[in-house]
Amino acid sequence: MKYNIESNDVLSQIKELTKKFNSIKRYIHIKNVESLAVELAERFDVSPEEVSIAAYGHDLMRGLKDCEYMEYCRLYNYHPSKIEINRPILLHGKISAMYLNSKFDISPSCYNAIYWHVSGHINLDLTGKIIVVSDFCEIGRTHEEATIFRDEAFQNLEKVYLKVIKSKIEWALKKNRPIIPESIEVWNSNSWED
Ligand SMILES: [Fe+2]
Ligand SMILES: [Fe+2]
Repeated sequence: MKYNIESNDVLSQIKELTKKFNSIKRYIHIKNVESLAVELAERFDVSPEEVSIAAYGHDLMRGLKDCEYMEYCRLYNYHPSKIEINRPILLHGKISAMYLNSKFDISPSCYNAIYWHVSGHINLDLTGKIIVVSDFCEIGRTHEEATIFRDEAFQNLEKVYLKVIKSKIEWALKKNRPIIPESIEVWNSNSWED
């Protein structure tokens, strides 16, 4: 049975699931993502409710074991890419989105924000971009880039979204890890001004 957003308090149910499925440390990260995401939503006139649901849902399945990701792929009839088979943790956004979609009537915007938050995607709307940026810059992220991006995001969200994707690509290269194709597509969608 699916829950309906209007007739049930979906957000509080997702919060409960997130608390149940994750460590305290990760739950604090998720709460921090939500706080920043709601501030950005207010700044850019996006629904704070949508952003809250996406924030609380984004890392719901971040704590699964590799074999459990593969089990969920089978359950949802999702065919993982080679990169995902080698690093199943990369599936946590997609599995979180598919799981939540099987339990609740979440909007396509929330679904996509959760589904693509690891890599970004060229078709992400403002809710999705806010989640990618907030995930990278939330107050618990203490590295220099996060602090700079956190302030800059309120001036130019699109630009910071691209900078976050660039940083993810650079990190992957530095660690000798594969680059998710959707991240490259986002980077190439840059208008290359200035
Ligand atoms: Fe994540
Ligand atoms: Fe996260």
